Amino acid sequence: MPGKIAMIFGVSNILWIVFAASQAFKIETSPESRILAQIGDSISLTCSTTGCESPSFSWRTQIDSPLNAKVRNEGTKSTLTMDPVSFENEHSYLCTATCGSRKEEKEIQVDVYSFPKDPEIHFSGLLEVGKPIIVKCLVPDVYPFDRLEMELLKGDSHLKNQEFLEDMDKKSLETKSLEVTFTPTIEDIGKALICRAKLHITETDSEESNPKEKETNKELQVYISPKNTAISVQPSTRLQEGDSVTLTCSSEGLPAPESVWSKKLDNGNLQLLSGNATLTLIAMKMEDSGIYVCEGVNQIGRNRKEVELIVQEKPFTVDISPGHQVAAQVGDSIVLTCSVTDCESPSFSWRTQRNSSLSGMVRIVRTESTVNLSSVSLENEDQYLCTVTCGHRKVEKEIQVELYSFPQDPEIEMSDLLVSGNPVTVSCKVPFVYPFDHLEIEIRKGETLMVNKYFSEEMDIKSLKNHSLEMTFTPTTEDTGNVLVCQAKLHIGEMESEPKQRQSTQTLYVNVAPTDTTVLFNPSSILEEGSSVNMTCSSNGIPAPKILWSRQLSNGDLQLLSETTTLTLISTKMEDSGIYVCEGINQAGISRKKVELTIQVAPKDIQLTAFPSESVKEGDMVIISCTCGNVPETWIILKKKTEMGDTVLKSIDGAYTIHKVQLEDAGVYECESKNKVGSELRSLTLDVKGRENNKDYFSPELLVLYCTFSLIIPAFGMIIYFARKANMKGSYSLVEAQKSKV
Ligand SMILES: *[C@@H]1O[C@H](CO)[C@@H](O)[C@H](O)[C@H]1NC(C)=O
Ligand SMILES: *[C@@H]1O[C@H](CO)[C@@H](O)[C@H](O)[C@H]1NC(C)=O
Ligand SMILES: *[C@@H]1O[C@H](CO)[C@@H](O)[C@H](O)[C@H]1NC(C)=O
Ligand SMILES: *[C@@H]1O[C@H](CO)[C@@H](O)[C@H](O)[C@H]1NC(C)=O
Ligand SMILES: *[C@@H]1O[C@H](CO)[C@@H](O)[C@H](O)[C@H]1NC(C)=O
Repeated sequence: MPGKIAMIFGVSNILWIVFAASQAFKIETSPESRILAQIGDSISLTCSTTGCESPSFSWRTQIDSPLNAKVRNEGTKSTLTMDPVSFENEHSYLCTATCGSRKEEKEIQVDVYSFPKDPEIHFSGLLEVGKPIIVKCLVPDVYPFDRLEMELLKGDSHLKNQEFLEDMDKKSLETKSLEVTFTPTIEDIGKALICRAKLHITETDSEESNPKEKETNKELQVYISPKNTAISVQPSTRLQEGDSVTLTCSSEGLPAPESVWSKKLDNGNLQLLSGNATLTLIAMKMEDSGIYVCEGVNQIGRNRKEVELIVQEKPFTVDISPGHQVAAQVGDSIVLTCSVTDCESPSFSWRTQRNSSLSGMVRIVRTESTVNLSSVSLENEDQYLCTVTCGHRKVEKEIQVELYSFPQDPEIEMSDLLVSGNPVTVSCKVPFVYPFDHLEIEIRKGETLMVNKYFSEEMDIKSLKNHSLEMTFTPTTEDTGNVLVCQAKLHIGEMESEPKQRQSTQTLYVNVAPTDTTVLFNPSSILEEGSSVNMTCSSNGIPAPKILWSRQLSNGDLQLLSETTTLTLISTKMEDSGIYVCEGINQAGISRKKVELTIQVAPKDIQLTAFPSESVKEGDMVIISCTCGNVPETWIILKKKTEMGDTVLKSIDGAYTIHKVQLEDAGVYECESKNKVGSELRSLTLDVKGRENNKDYFSPELLVLYCTFSLIIPAFGMIIYFARKANMKGSYSLVEAQKSKV
């Protein structure tokens, strides 16, 4: 190219040298020899002369083709205007000026080009990371394109350049392009893509090439297609009617994708729900079950993720109170309640295992139904079932009503009074108990278990029963103060882990029957008449025995005298002598003590009599009798006084009987009554007369006359004394005397 331009300049130099030889008439052009004109622009070539008043101008091209320009001549100047410049103007234009005979000629080379626009950058599509893309840079309407050089750069790095050195077989404007395929990366974001085009043409006459240059700068817009779309569900994908759920969608991409929520319809189509990443569904219904789709969307793609939500029918619940089982005491009231939640209008029905309808006692208030069992009896012991119907669903709950009866504390009974040493039977009774197959009774004495029993008998009929446990033991005084405990436990059903429990206690008090009853005389048990005596009785026993004083009558009966321990007799008389009985009495028994009180009286009122008379006839029967009055313990000695001494007569009970009285029986008879206290003497004189006829005479009744009070047993020495004094006339038998006394 520079070579060709040089060649053009060579030709004009030669012409200049030729015309310079003529003088005065000169021709000049502007531009001097060459002009580069862009197609479509407007240029003018000017030819002017000096040294000629009125020159004439003519313009032609070297190859005599049409000028394609307008000529205007003005004095010494001619202007050739090309407007617009076209390919037809690419010529060497010759301006010929004629002044008379002189002729001057000058040539101007017109070169054309076209480079009107900046390069255009085109992408084959959106730039996506990782996806090859074709970048095309276009330079439109370029001429001469064999001088075109194109270059593509990405940031600082060179992608491709190209020179278009092809032959130009005809003059035309062409669009040239440069194509590069590259794969964008994340690093390319924000980088510039530059397309630079250079047209190497020479502007001026200078030899130097001065390329025209245009460039286009485009920032790379790199995209990332949505991916990794994820859904989070709060609280769960399994829901119940009425619940709310929040679905949150996230998706990665550049630019950040937008999330779009849809629901998949039965026909597979999507129903748009929201353009928000967060989708909240409230008060869900079963129909809301299904597949929910989230799509992350940006300019270059979409990525979807699905989640299935399952909305279940909300189950309604039935609660029965007071629980699964309830224990009630016979006579109590119980209320069974069946309550429903999560059902608008439930319907209730109650039954028991035995009775299919309980309508009478049932009350229904909205979502609650109650059965009121007032004053329950054993017939109410049953399983109660509450059936709730809500829509087409049905739930049944049951409650076991167990009854028991245990209204009273156990009753402790003793067969007898507690007396030390006497076996006694203790019974512990638990009245009106049910169920008695789970009754346990035990009897304890203090801490010691005496007996226990578990009543596990079969219950063929439901009824209240008394149950008792018995035990026999022999109490001792040590048991006093100990506590007898009867404890009853009733184990009711399974639900009451602790048995019902009742107990009774009884403090033991052990009696001891009276013993060792003794009497103390003060001053003595033998007294002289007129003195006083205190008879004090004591008796041992628990509780302390009560003392009773009695006197034993002759028939053996007792006559109560006093209820004090001391019996005082003031100024005693002989009649106070006798048997006195002291009784020590308590609950446990009686202890008796008999004592004898003797009141001594000096003998008195002795009577000595002869029967039938003191004057009798020979052969009669006569009884001489000494009666001693009412003085006990008195010796009676019947004697007959003679000159030789006294003869003690053998008397029976103080009576001496002479069956056939003789004359010699006459005389003085003496009766001496004597005791410790004193003596008394009586005498009589029996007169016996001789008789003519002896006639027997006997009256047996007379024999009963005797001394009321027998002789007491004398001291041995005393008998001897009496015997000596009596001179042992007649006989005295001690044995006889004793016999008579008994
Ligand atoms: C998406 O929902 C959130 C929370 O309800 C709200 O703050 C936000 O403005 C919504 N965005 C659009 C685009 O609707
Ligand atoms: C069942 O209960 C009803 C209503 O309370 C009552 O009238 C009926 O006698 C009971 N039937 C039986 C067999 O208990
Ligand atoms: C149950 O019935 C009794 C007697 O009929 C009554 O006194 C009581 O108030 C009732 N209780 C309820 C909760 O209805
Ligand atoms: C059960 O005991 C109670 C109270 O002690 C009594 O009234 C009732 O008669 C007794 N019943 C039977 C059947 O023995
Ligand atoms: C008998 O007892 C009473 C009262 O203790 C007393 O005053 C009296 O002297 C006693 N009599 C005799 C004889 O001891």
